[in-house]
Amino acid sequence: MVSGDPINVILLGAGTGGTSLLELFARSPGVEVVGIADKNPDAPGLKRARELHIPASQDVAELLSRDGTGLIVDVTGDPAMAEFIARHNPRGIQVLGGMTARLLWNLVQHEAGIQAQLFQAAKLATIGTFTSGIAHDINNPLYLVMSLAEDMADESDPGVIRDHARDIVQAVRRIAAIVKGLTLYARVSSADDLVGVDLNGALDEALKMARYATVLNEIEVARDYVARPVVRGRPEEILQVCVNIVTNGVQAMNGRGALRLSTRREDGLVTATIADTGPGIPRDVLDKIFDPFFTTKEPGKGTGLGLHIARTIVKKYGGLIDVSSHEGRGTTFRLQFPSAG
Ligand SMILES: Nc1ncnc2c1ncn2[C@@H]1O[C@H](COP(=O)(O)OP(=O)(O)O)[C@@H](O)[C@H]1O
Ligand SMILES: [Mg+2]
Repeated sequence: MVSGDPINVILLGAGTGGTSLLELFARSPGVEVVGIADKNPDAPGLKRARELHIPASQDVAELLSRDGTGLIVDVTGDPAMAEFIARHNPRGIQVLGGMTARLLWNLVQHEAGIQAQLFQAAKLATIGTFTSGIAHDINNPLYLVMSLAEDMADESDPGVIRDHARDIVQAVRRIAAIVKGLTLYARVSSADDLVGVDLNGALDEALKMARYATVLNEIEVARDYVARPVVRGRPEEILQVCVNIVTNGVQAMNGRGALRLSTRREDGLVTATIADTGPGIPRDVLDKIFDPFFTTKEPGKGTGLGLHIARTIVKKYGGLIDVSSHEGRGTTFRLQFPSAG
């Protein structure tokens, strides 16, 4: 898709606009951000750049003097900046600023909005594929409530009535827990600041969701967790990543098999591994699985967006996702993030 050498970009301005551009460039093939600068040491883009291991600086002149830059993108909105660049740009590196920078910024904002909508739509589509599983899980306690209530209507023994009432409360609690989990998952990702998210909790929550992916449930689950493998991120996004990967494992095993969830913490990294004993992924399919809309599932079972979204989110947090698979034996996905713990 992308040809030629990467475009080496210097970003001037690390406010909201600069940060959005930084995010976009960082995940775009063929573009490399070689530096970002802002006069304000607290500009959000500078902090983000450090997380992404991109050189961040307050010294624009120094940044401009570096070799190998192909494009300067000026989103400072400062009219004096154009002049400053002109004076410190002896090699005549191409500059994108003023109106063109604003145009680019508008397009990026638009793209970010569309992406957020796509991610949300994918979550809802996933819930759509879970409906028979959810209905099954809600129906069981629901029918229990009904039959207990019917019995109570003809019952005069206060002890039996009390027992039934207790069972009813428990069944209703089970339903409430299902609804709560679904609401949490369906929540629109907030624009709030990043918080510490525990991967163990995210995997456990994801497993509850993924169980709805199949009604037949003879999946053995083994957990092998370290204490507090914490990632800085938005809880909804980390959960979405885990739900997508764990769901794939559960779907691959078609309701029967073994799922192994593990977490590790070492060298400033946290790792989650999700291993299934499903049929594995054929070699010729393996390099397509992260492509948007690639799916081998029948309509109503998959959207082909799960892994694409998982990878986009993981990369946004400066992490990586990889897969190893043996046909007939199973598949292992590994998620790795910088540790926040
Ligand atoms: N654990 C797995 N075992 C076998 N195949 C998998 C596994 N995870 C993903 N895949 C393959 O990758 C494809 C893309 O996955 P994904 O992006 O989640 O989309 P979807 O699940 O909607 O098909 C799946 O259709 C399937 O062919
Ligand atoms: Mg999937």
